[in-house]
Amino acid sequence: MSTSRKDDHVNAAFKQYQTNPTDFESIRFIHHSIPKYNLSDINIETSILNHQLTTPFYINAMTGGSEWTAQVNKQLAMVAKEAQLMMATGSISAAIKDPKVAHSFQIAREVNPDGFLLANLGANHPLENAKKAVDLIDADAFQIHLNSPQEIVMPEGDREFREFEDHIGEIVHGLGVPVMIKEVGFGMSSETVQRLIDIGVSTVDVSGFGGTNFATIENSRREKEDFAFLGDWGQSTAVSLIDNYHLKDVVDLVASGGIKHPLQMTKAFALGAKAVGMSGEFLQRVLTKGVDDTVEQVHAWEEQLKLIMLMLNAPTIPDLLHTDLIFTDFPKEWAEQRHID
Ligand code: FNR
Repeated sequence: MSTSRKDDHVNAAFKQYQTNPTDFESIRFIHHSIPKYNLSDINIETSILNHQLTTPFYINAMTGGSEWTAQVNKQLAMVAKEAQLMMATGSISAAIKDPKVAHSFQIAREVNPDGFLLANLGANHPLENAKKAVDLIDADAFQIHLNSPQEIVMPEGDREFREFEDHIGEIVHGLGVPVMIKEVGFGMSSETVQRLIDIGVSTVDVSGFGGTNFATIENSRREKEDFAFLGDWGQSTAVSLIDNYHLKDVVDLVASGGIKHPLQMTKAFALGAKAVGMSGEFLQRVLTKGVDDTVEQVHAWEEQLKLIMLMLNAPTIPDLLHTDLIFTDFPKEWAEQRHID
């Protein structure tokens, strides 16, 4: 990936930031009036990728590959270190092609030597490259992204997908660190997740529609901007979770895409997610408010999450699965047409 494209993506995602409808608005908790716990009873720890997280949300994959994005990764890594958050770098493919840009990813490890850090590559890469990416940043786990709509809208994007399933299989079985398969904001159907389970995948980020939109970003980078009609392609994060709810005990579900505050996080956990990733929101905060303010915001979100759980009588993240929800609008239609109770 060219360094200018890396800068374009961060710039465009930063400008695109807005509060889009996410479908979470159409899912409401039923309020019950008798609280049963004290704030000190609430525990927000969770566990994914064979790792215990003290905070159930994290900094999801974004960037690296240019001088400017090295600085962005540095700031994100400082937040991850201070607030003890899991963090993924952006796709390391740029450094696989050109070792001169490796440092823009390695900086995330330099800043945060003891943090839980994920490397990231697309499914067009074989096991050998995944190993290189993990070694480059001494990653604790690995993300493979699936992003066919983005590739399709990108004029220089990938058009060859035949080897994807084989790559995923060989990486999951041969890499030696835990692997998460993720979308990039288009959501995942239960057919996709079931196929991934069959290949041997145990952690999936459904990363749905509702936040950063790479169909729109790539269209704005096209000379004629002639792919605007794909601007609403995909499933929201909320709907993706509904679609995969029946698989939540077979695979660890992770939610990302449009998540900006603890009420949305709580709904994602109630719909089966074990952790929540945020990209656009962290990018916006770190670039406009800086590292210290973002760390403060993380602590505020942690506290707010606990307070919502207190109201919902859910002392732990898994207890949120027993809360009562009402579905309206599109999520209701989706559940009905996909025959999900
Ligand atoms: C991304 N995302 C992403 N995902 C991935 O797996 N590899 C990558 O290299 C990137 N690059 C990237 C750059 C920028 C600037 C952004 C904002 C995002 C996608 C990201 O991880 C996530 O799936 C989507 O952005 C949806 O989440 P948000 O942004 O709505 O919270």
